[in-house]
Amino acid sequence: MPEDKSGENVTEAQIAVHWKEEETYAPPTSFIAQANMTDEDVLERFGEQNFPNCFKEYADMLDWYEYWTKTLDTSKPPFWRWFVGGKLNACYNCVDRHLPKYKNKTALHFVPEPENEAIHHMTYQELYVKVNEFAMLLRDFCGLKRGDRVTLHMPMTAELPITMLACARLGIIHSQVFSGFSGKACADRIVDSGSHVLITEDAYYRSGKLLDHKVKADIAVAEAEKEGQKVDKVLIWQRYPGKYSAKTPLVEGRDFIVNDILPKYLGAKVEPEKMNSEDVLFLMYTSGTTGKPKGAQHSTGGYMAYVTGTSKYIQDIHPEDVYWCMADIGWITGHSYIVYGPLALAASSVIFEGVPTYPDAGRPWRVAEELDVNIFHTSPTAIRALRRVGPDEPAKYNYNFKHMTTVGEPIEPEVWRWYYNVVGKKKAVIVDTWWQTETGGFLCSTVPAIHKMKPGSAGPGVPGIYPEILDDNGQPLPRGSNKAGNIVIRNPWPGLMQTIWHDDERFVRQYYERYCADKNSTDWHDWPYFAGDGAVEAPDGYFRILGRIDDVINVAGHRLGTKELESAALMVPEIGEAAVVPVPDPIKGRLPHVFVSLKPGIQASKEIEQKVSDTLAAEIGPIAKPGRVWIVPDMPKTRSGKIMRRVLAAVASGQDTGDTTTLANPEVVEKIKSLA
Ligand code: PRX
Repeated sequence: MPEDKSGENVTEAQIAVHWKEEETYAPPTSFIAQANMTDEDVLERFGEQNFPNCFKEYADMLDWYEYWTKTLDTSKPPFWRWFVGGKLNACYNCVDRHLPKYKNKTALHFVPEPENEAIHHMTYQELYVKVNEFAMLLRDFCGLKRGDRVTLHMPMTAELPITMLACARLGIIHSQVFSGFSGKACADRIVDSGSHVLITEDAYYRSGKLLDHKVKADIAVAEAEKEGQKVDKVLIWQRYPGKYSAKTPLVEGRDFIVNDILPKYLGAKVEPEKMNSEDVLFLMYTSGTTGKPKGAQHSTGGYMAYVTGTSKYIQDIHPEDVYWCMADIGWITGHSYIVYGPLALAASSVIFEGVPTYPDAGRPWRVAEELDVNIFHTSPTAIRALRRVGPDEPAKYNYNFKHMTTVGEPIEPEVWRWYYNVVGKKKAVIVDTWWQTETGGFLCSTVPAIHKMKPGSAGPGVPGIYPEILDDNGQPLPRGSNKAGNIVIRNPWPGLMQTIWHDDERFVRQYYERYCADKNSTDWHDWPYFAGDGAVEAPDGYFRILGRIDDVINVAGHRLGTKELESAALMVPEIGEAAVVPVPDPIKGRLPHVFVSLKPGIQASKEIEQKVSDTLAAEIGPIAKPGRVWIVPDMPKTRSGKIMRRVLAAVASGQDTGDTTTLANPEVVEKIKSLA
């Protein structure tokens, strides 16, 4: 643990906190005039005195086959059960129920990366037809049924939400893997979820290149089989229907082009399954502190209620809006706030295939102008990149945002102000939404027509969420003290994952063990949710998030486990030891730097550095490409043999390494510094 100036031990989170209080901004009156939620009573209604029944307000935004009998069952903490006894179908809520009023309205706008390709607008009626046909194919051709798991490794095309909704219609649990991830990473998720079917796409565009994506399916299936999980069928959507765009050949009897089989099911209709509120809707894998990614298991009723409610009140989505969340559906943001939340509210949701800055930094604003997007949702990473390469681009385009979101990492106040002044043209409200894969939906954010905005701060807990900051011993820090500690959510909420797939023990250990007051208690007050982030609370009750307190690196808004990266580096035969640390990066927030020591007798070389970098990209995906690979003579270690990552991080970021005299090998620090 590092020491502060007084010589006392402080936590990692506490070091960073010397910010000045930022100015606040009032929501524009034009926004308030049309907002879904302007009534301050909502804060009272969702106050602790009305918990858990307050969440009925969200559940009532859905259609239920059977209404629930109990709002929250706490009998087996921390396995909370929401809307017990209720039955519903997520696909029905996102598609069928909108037909009487909105069948001719666009559900999805698919924006291909090449600008000479027309934007494809799909109505709710078309979505309904396609989802039904594909659901029938899943049922009859693949033999899939309620409760089965299916892995999706799909890029950002309209076929991805179609596939998810078709699964949801039948009660099949989907597990979508980010398309940028490697075949190997996909295989690990196939194995963990026990999927027999993989659904992919032949190709997609990225930065002007049509990438062969099918090649990853071959690797995924082969690797999964090595680990004992056989994939019987690979379904391949085509980027250009009727034309196969990958170079990789099909495997006879295993690979099937969706568009070849689909004609058999033209016009087919499948009744939506009546799912229990507590049935699993999907798995979303995320990095943790140990190597193995964990499958956050999300429910049907609680999750759908929570994402629908927050999409309405925080995202301010109305059916008339054109809503564009520029995240990838391969992450939780895309599941909750491109697909399930917006579609449950009958919005028109934009699916963008490309890279925001390709072919130039004006692209997002051209899309916004063409589609008349009025709600825009992205990450600090994208905002930083657009600001760096095209600071004056937004002014050139005639679009009108009423609402903008930032999500995924803390946003620097300077960057926030550019977003507000230049992208939003001072007319759009901004919400900075803090949450996680595990939490299903937002935890902290302003309610956009009610609260003032404050650059760099997410805001108070959203309605029905009661956050608090605890010190390392579990004592609450005084409210509004601006002191850093670990943020927890004191209460359960409907969007929270149910468990980690097949690993209840890890779920309890990771999120509850640390601060549980009494393991035998069935009172939720004794079970605060440990988010793993450091945060401070200002006197106005706004939370400012400082970042992860465990060893997970947040690259461009995506969590990568250091252990995962280190194990990948160790696959290079020359490497003896590896340690990965986060280093601040002006665009991506953090970049992993990899420190490796070589096996005896091996000479350092540029080739080895390259090999490490390539292996990380191949094993995990290009997102894991290190900022730098350092070949060091040895790792700085404590006397008990633990690698001192803090020292490595300080060297890599050009900071003072502090006191290293207590190390087992202090002399090595100077040698490492000389490599900088
Ligand atoms: O550290 C927090 C950061 O991202 C982590 C969650 O990452 P992931 O599960 O991949 O989900 C990202 C999208 C919800 C959090 O533990 N984080 C997320 N949103 C914010 C944030 N940090 C600061 N401000 C945010 N708005």
